[in-house]
Amino acid sequence: MVNKYLYLNTIGCQMNVYDSEQIAMRMAALGYQQTSSLEMADLVIVNTCTIRAKAEQKAFSFLGRLARLKKKKPGLITGVGGCVAQQEGEKIFKRIPYLDLVFGTQAIDRLPYLIQKIEKKRCRIVDIEQADKPHFKEANDNIAPASQVSRFVTIMRGCDNFCSYCVVPYVRGRETSRHPDVIVNEIKELARSGLKEVTLLGQNVNSYGKKEGLCSFTELLARVSQIERLLRIRFTTSHPKDFDEDLINALRTNEKLCDHIHLPVQSGSNRVLKRMNRKYTKELYLDKVAKLRDTCPDIAITSDIIVGFPGESEADFDESLDLIRTIEFDGLFAFKYSDRPNAPAAKFEEKVSDHQMKKRLQILLDLQDTFTKKKNQALVGSCLPILAEGFSKRQSSGNLNHAHQAVQWTGRTSTNKIVNFYQDDNPEGCDGLSPGELVDVKIEKAYSHSLWGRPVEDKAAAKRLKGDRSYAA
Ligand code: 5AD
Ligand code: SF4
Repeated sequence: MVNKYLYLNTIGCQMNVYDSEQIAMRMAALGYQQTSSLEMADLVIVNTCTIRAKAEQKAFSFLGRLARLKKKKPGLITGVGGCVAQQEGEKIFKRIPYLDLVFGTQAIDRLPYLIQKIEKKRCRIVDIEQADKPHFKEANDNIAPASQVSRFVTIMRGCDNFCSYCVVPYVRGRETSRHPDVIVNEIKELARSGLKEVTLLGQNVNSYGKKEGLCSFTELLARVSQIERLLRIRFTTSHPKDFDEDLINALRTNEKLCDHIHLPVQSGSNRVLKRMNRKYTKELYLDKVAKLRDTCPDIAITSDIIVGFPGESEADFDESLDLIRTIEFDGLFAFKYSDRPNAPAAKFEEKVSDHQMKKRLQILLDLQDTFTKKKNQALVGSCLPILAEGFSKRQSSGNLNHAHQAVQWTGRTSTNKIVNFYQDDNPEGCDGLSPGELVDVKIEKAYSHSLWGRPVEDKAAAKRLKGDRSYAA
C-alpha cells in the first residue's frame, strides 16, 4: 500500500482527544499513517473546539496557515471536524475557500467514505447532522488504538443541562449514553493491550444511562473495576447538582477508583449560579463537598470557575473568592467568560469589560496558587504509589566520568498530581521499570504544578511511609 500521511490537529477537551483517536484509527485503515510533520501530510484534519472564542480563533488561525501548504501541494486534502464545524457548517468555506471537507461531531464513522470520495472526485463535502437529534449512532466498530498506559474513553456524549453560557448542547447535541457492554468491551480490549488507567468521559457522568434506562454510573464503575489488569479508574465531569451519595460511597469502597474528583462550581454567588442555570446553590455545593470529604478525607478536588459572567458584580466575584478560600481546591481551571453563539448568556446585558475580567482572573489565579502550592507542599515526605507513564527527559547524572544518564520518569498520584522521579545518585535505580507499573515514590520537592521524588526500593520503608493509606494496585 502506498504510504499516505495524516496530520491531525486536536484542539480542546478530552472528548476531542478521544474523537481524534477514533479519526486516526479510521484513517489508518484507509492507509493514512499519522505524522507530526505538516509538510509531509497528504491529509490535514483539524478537530476543533468552540467552548470559548479563543479556541475557535485558534482553529481559524491554523486553517489560515494551510493556504501556503495547499499552494505548494495542490493534492493535499484538508478537513475541519468537531464543534466549530458543527456550529459553522458550510460558512467555513467562505472563510477558508481551499478547504475540502467540513464534518460534524457525529460524522466520524463516515469519514473514510468521505475522504475516499474526495480522493477520487476532488469534490468538496459538508457532512453535518443536526446536533439536537435525540440520539447519535453508536459506532459499532470502535477500534482499540495501540497500547497506552492511560487513556480516555467516552461513555456519553452531548449534554441536556443548557447552562446559559455554554455551547456544548448546541454543538454536541442531546445527552446520549453508550451501552455499558460496548464500553466494558472496549476497555477490556485496551487492558489486554496494556492499558492500566482509564478516564471515563462525559459532560455529566452522574446522569449516565438514566435516560436510556441503562445501568447507573456507579454500576458502570463497578463493572469497569472488574476488568483484569486495569489498575486505576478516573472519570470526568461530575455536575454538582447530580453528584450523589452513591458516587461518594463508590469513591470510598471501589479500590480502583482514584482519589480525585473534578466538580466544576463555575461561581460562588447564588445570584450568578441562578443566571448560569446551574440548578444548585453555593450552600448545596459546600454541603456535597463536606459530605465527600467526611467519607473520603484523602480526596483531591478540582474545579472550573468562570469570571466576568454578564452581571457579575464585585460582590459576586468576592463570593467566588470566598468559596475558593473555604474549599481550598487542589487545582482550579479559571476562565474569562466568553459569549458563544446560541448560548442564552450571549444576549444577557451588563457585560463585564475584558479589562475587569483580566483583573479578576489574575486575582483568582493568584489566590488559587497559594492553595495549590500548599496542597503540594503537604505531600513532601510522604510515599505515594505513582503510575509510571513514561520518561519525560533524560538528565545527566552529574558525573562526567560516569557514562550513565538518569532517566526522568513521569507519572501521577491517585489524586492526579504529576510526579517526576529519578535517582540521581543511582541512575540505574529505575532500571527495569516499564511504563504502566505502580512505583512507590517518596515525595521530596513540591513545585506549583508538579512534585518531584525518588522511588523507594525498600518495600518495608515504603509501607512505614505510607502509614495506613491503601491504594489501588
Ligand atoms: N465562557 C467561559 N468559560 C466557559 N466554559 C464553558 N463555556 C464557557 C464560556 N462561554 C468553561 C466552564 C466549563 C469549562 C469546560 O469551560 O467552566 O466547565
Ligand atoms: Fe455545558 Fe453545562 Fe453541559 Fe457542562 S453541564 S457541558 S457547562 S451545558
